[in-house]
Amino acid sequence: SVSGRIVVGGREYPVDEWMNASEPILSAVTRKLHLQSHHPISITRQLIESRFPTYRCHNDLWPIVSVAQNFDTLGFAPDHPGRSRTDTYYINKSTVLRTHTSAHQADLFRDNLSDGFLISADVYRRDAVDRNHYPVFHQMEGAMTWDKTKHGYGDSLARAIWDDVSRIPVHNVVVEDPNPTVHPERNPLQSEHHSLEEVEAVAAHLKRSLEDVVVEVFKSARSAAGCTNDEEEANEPFRIRWVEAYFPFTSPSWELEVFWQGDWLEILGCGVVKQSILNNANVSSRLGWAFGLGLERIAMLLFSIPDIRLFWSQDRRFLDQFESTHPACYKDVAFWLRSTSSSAGGGSRSNPADFHENDMMELVRDVAGDLVEDVRLVDEFVHPTTGRKSLCYRINYRSLERTLTNDEANQLHSRIRNGLAEKLGVELR
Ligand code: PHE
Repeated sequence: SVSGRIVVGGREYPVDEWMNASEPILSAVTRKLHLQSHHPISITRQLIESRFPTYRCHNDLWPIVSVAQNFDTLGFAPDHPGRSRTDTYYINKSTVLRTHTSAHQADLFRDNLSDGFLISADVYRRDAVDRNHYPVFHQMEGAMTWDKTKHGYGDSLARAIWDDVSRIPVHNVVVEDPNPTVHPERNPLQSEHHSLEEVEAVAAHLKRSLEDVVVEVFKSARSAAGCTNDEEEANEPFRIRWVEAYFPFTSPSWELEVFWQGDWLEILGCGVVKQSILNNANVSSRLGWAFGLGLERIAMLLFSIPDIRLFWSQDRRFLDQFESTHPACYKDVAFWLRSTSSSAGGGSRSNPADFHENDMMELVRDVAGDLVEDVRLVDEFVHPTTGRKSLCYRINYRSLERTLTNDEANQLHSRIRNGLAEKLGVELR
């Protein structure tokens, strides 16, 4: 049988016959892609963190944890397949490479340093080999709890939580959420601990918070994928939906899915935290929610990265692309030039030659300054009967210093559109 000790990232562990983590896997524990500046995983993490400004971020938690932390305290059944050596990397019988960031939930609830927290970290799973799977990837966990003794119980607690719901930014995306908050068999209320009013409020806070993240993040991803103008938006509007789910450590539980290039894509899992976890962590007066999401999947969409292995590249040519890269935000503007027939009364200024591209470029600079990366002509045609000429320019809004919100880009874009009509005399389409 196997015995002895190994050193991983400067820490020593006894090994036994459960050990199944190879050297390449163990060497990943020191990489911390989510903390490398300009790495797309790190940029994605910061983009999501920016939607939770009051939450405390824990981004350097050590990846080797106990079986108790990863499975037992979270209520995984003794025969849960996730525990098997075919799915999970063991160092020894009671020590694993964490398979999810939920492994730290109970510890952070016990520490009770903040009402809301986020955890970003590398996680490890034995899995398929394809361009969407890699045995090491990154998750972000989030949780929010309220103290019942501070806010009063029942209705008064529920009102306090609804108050917090009203502070979450509103979005205008249509959300499909056909199921009741709880369902006795499929998605039960923890009725010995929570009232329906409390759980309705917690669920609303959870869902609105995560919708806000996904709507903001996917606006950037849709721009990156070239879905940029209002027409495309009308043909294929952004759709998200809540579906019922099961996790051993939450009830009720949900997944949030996004309609992406013809398929429903699962983005995150979440739910109302099992009260036994909070009680065992000595914070029985608290109740709340938790979620977990995969950063690679989101980063692949945001940065159009086709293969998950690329995140591990140490080649400067891969990493340099993101050096100055906050997400791009593309917006199109199309307009008619004035008619060529200058014969109709006086104005020789109606010659299309009057439109000089550099006037447009200067207008863009005047309005948006360095928040525009480039302006490109993407379409040009002459109307077959009227002879009028139409141009379409694509403007890429991107800051070198920070991630622009879609609202900011929209404001700049509408000022540019107004300027085109008023100062350059074109007819907007
Ligand atoms: N840990 C779960 C996973 O990896 C995600 C999750 C986190 C679900 C928190 C609910 C609450 O799939």
